[in-house]
Amino acid sequence: MRKRVETGIAGIDKMLYGGIPEGNDVVVAGGPGSGKTLFSMEFLYRNAKQGEIGIFISLEEDTSMIIENATNAFTDLSDLKQLIDNKKLVVYGTDKTGMYMQREAQTSSYTFGKFVTAIESLIETYNATRVVIDSVSLIKLLIRDPFEYRTVSMNLVSVLRRFNVTSLLTMEIEAPDREKLVFLPEFFVYDGIFVMYSGEAEAGNRVPSIEIVKMRGSAHSYATVPYEITPSGINIMLLNERKL
Ligand SMILES: Nc1ncnc2c1ncn2[C@@H]1O[C@H](COP(=O)(O)OP(=O)(O)O)[C@@H](O)[C@H]1O
Ligand SMILES: [Mg+2]
Repeated sequence: MRKRVETGIAGIDKMLYGGIPEGNDVVVAGGPGSGKTLFSMEFLYRNAKQGEIGIFISLEEDTSMIIENATNAFTDLSDLKQLIDNKKLVVYGTDKTGMYMQREAQTSSYTFGKFVTAIESLIETYNATRVVIDSVSLIKLLIRDPFEYRTVSMNLVSVLRRFNVTSLLTMEIEAPDREKLVFLPEFFVYDGIFVMYSGEAEAGNRVPSIEIVKMRGSAHSYATVPYEITPSGINIMLLNERKL
């Protein structure tokens, strides 16, 4: 059996019967504000505490903004900043990657090729075993051709697999898209899919919840489980009596 990588987010590891199979690449899909970035950050934080070096690569925000948001949200995780300063959790914002893709008129698969190469060298430089890319939505927005999009995604995944890093890739989706998700190329390309529902869709019910839609190499819960974002991390509200 493949080694499991604990996310460190207790309920998620329970829903995965131990954790993410090592080396898997997992999409964290959800609407804006659902908590994708913080979820991914906590994953790297928990793993860095166990000595597993992680890289947080953002295609959307500057390094200082990412660190500020994370430390503001997770005030109880007092050693988060220290792990970042000590390069146990390496944050690479748009200012460092040079990926100003929102502003760049001509973004092509060539640009993404350079981006994938940059990821490779980051993994090697820091000896990272965990990687987050926040988010890969932009790639889809900018590469309209479905074949090219799939090729670029496959290149990214092949690099992550070659280095055997366990990775989370966030992806913005609209809540009603969940039913369509299983037909998207992402569903076939990536090893796992988590969906975070912000709870906006159901009138009168604003409780956010998370679902594991797919995880290659692992049995997992099919339950949709409520969660909350707390100063000490993401709290997955599994009922004790619920047998997964
Ligand atoms: N300082 C904070 N205090 C309380 N909640 C926060 C704080 N910062 C963020 N949040 C919560 O986290 C959510 C944003 O999380 P984030 O991971 O950035 O979402 P996403 O990446 O999916 O857009 C906010 O909608 C809010 O509920
Ligand atoms: Mg985000």
